[in-house]
Amino acid sequence: MHVAIVMDGNGRWAQEQGQPRIFGHREGANAVRRAVEAARHEAIDVLTLFAFSSDNWGRPVNEVSALMDLFGLYLESETKRCRQNGIRLSVIGRRDRLPVSLVEAIHLAEERTAAGDHMLLRIAVDYSARDSIYRAARAVDSAVSREFFELAIQAVMYSVSPALDVDLLIRTGGEMRLSDFLLWECAYAELVFLKKMWPDFRAKDLRDAIGEFHSRNRRFGKVPVAANPPVLTPAADMTNIPVLSQ
Ligand code: IPE
Ligand code: IPE
Ligand code: MG
Repeated sequence: MHVAIVMDGNGRWAQEQGQPRIFGHREGANAVRRAVEAARHEAIDVLTLFAFSSDNWGRPVNEVSALMDLFGLYLESETKRCRQNGIRLSVIGRRDRLPVSLVEAIHLAEERTAAGDHMLLRIAVDYSARDSIYRAARAVDSAVSREFFELAIQAVMYSVSPALDVDLLIRTGGEMRLSDFLLWECAYAELVFLKKMWPDFRAKDLRDAIGEFHSRNRRFGKVPVAANPPVLTPAADMTNIPVLSQ
């Protein structure tokens, strides 16, 4: 099962307490640790977390640099834990605009956790779904068949996961939008929007969202067998025709 999370609401969470937004991002990093730990105990094969969108570069410089510092600290402190727990860490998104030290930390974290086979943890940094689709499309000959195009685009996109399609997408913070996250992969994702802010996210929220996912009827455009009406005999068919009132 592939779960993706838009971890939104750090800034508002901090502001609600009269604290600067960066305080919320720091607490958000703790929520990431909790979420990864919780995901490890659920049947989740791939967890993709939206940490920094390409549009987030437009935020104040001090917020952006605080976020970059936090990613570095997170990688430093979590690589060992991931390794111990069989979690393979991978960062998706552009790397050419990230601080060089962060790119090095990413390489190191990916290398050190490469053998993890319990869960794949993907962190999206400087990520834009549109940009990833654009890059993939450019790498693929436009004259190929649709099937080949889909295979090629999946291969070329930033993803390293075979389970590319998202099953369940969770967004905290109350907004009901994708904000350029995994547009291709969410074609048939079940969407769960939570009002609570990301720093308040707990293991139970993940469990509840997964419970909600299992209660949904995924049809993928088809008609589920169970929902097909039983085949009726002609007589029964006649009696079932509703009488329309004038
Ligand atoms: C999500 O929280 C974290 C990032 C986008 C980096 P926000 O920083 O967007 O928090 P709000 O939405 O302003 O409350
Ligand atoms: C989406 O949140 C990006 C991340 C959570 C990293 P934003 O806060 O950037 O999205 P908008 O601006 O509300 O759409
Ligand atoms: Mg936000």
